[in-house]
Amino acid sequence: MTAKRTAILISGRGSNMAALIAAAANPGYPAQIALVLSNQPLAGGLKRAQAHNIAVAIIPHQGKTRSQFDAELDATLREHGIELVCLAGFMRILTDDFVRAWAGRIINIHPSLLPAFKGTHVHAQALAAGVRISGCTAHFVVPELDAGPIIEQACVRVEPDDTEASLAARILAEEHRIYPQALRLLASGRVRLEDGRAVFS
Ligand code: GRF
Repeated sequence: MTAKRTAILISGRGSNMAALIAAAANPGYPAQIALVLSNQPLAGGLKRAQAHNIAVAIIPHQGKTRSQFDAELDATLREHGIELVCLAGFMRILTDDFVRAWAGRIINIHPSLLPAFKGTHVHAQALAAGVRISGCTAHFVVPELDAGPIIEQACVRVEPDDTEASLAARILAEEHRIYPQALRLLASGRVRLEDGRAVFS
């Protein structure tokens, strides 16, 4: 089976991107990272991707409607023959049309145990709620934010003296572990999106 051509969409440092690139370097991994795309020209992850000789693309979002931006994004993904898309710290809300066009082929990593703590300031939300366990979730992307069917999760204990930064760092280590697992499941066809549910086989 040929490795599925995968794009990673980033807006920042790209540590989850780096974890996916490292996983995809293993022989037999069912996805290859064919493109890293950012809406932020200065995203740190772009240099890291170039250092691995991966094609990069920058699509600035300023002065564009969401539909215009997403049309450019879609065209770029198609130009590169992309089959799967991984959002990894991509700080743009995608239009329903774009998400529907890529349904079942686009996934995200989120730093909480969904469905708890959607959106932004996730670790602050977890600390404010006083939960003793948080974690991370890899899930299919659907039009509703952070609401897609779950592919993989990991939990992390919240310590009494945790700050947003300390909790974020422990959760990030788990993100780096489960996101490559989730992409492996998707790219090998062992999970698929069917009638709004993640179906495993
Ligand atoms: C991660 O915590 C991810 O879960 C969230 O944004 C952060 C991105 O970090 N969506 P990085 O750019 O992958 O280092």
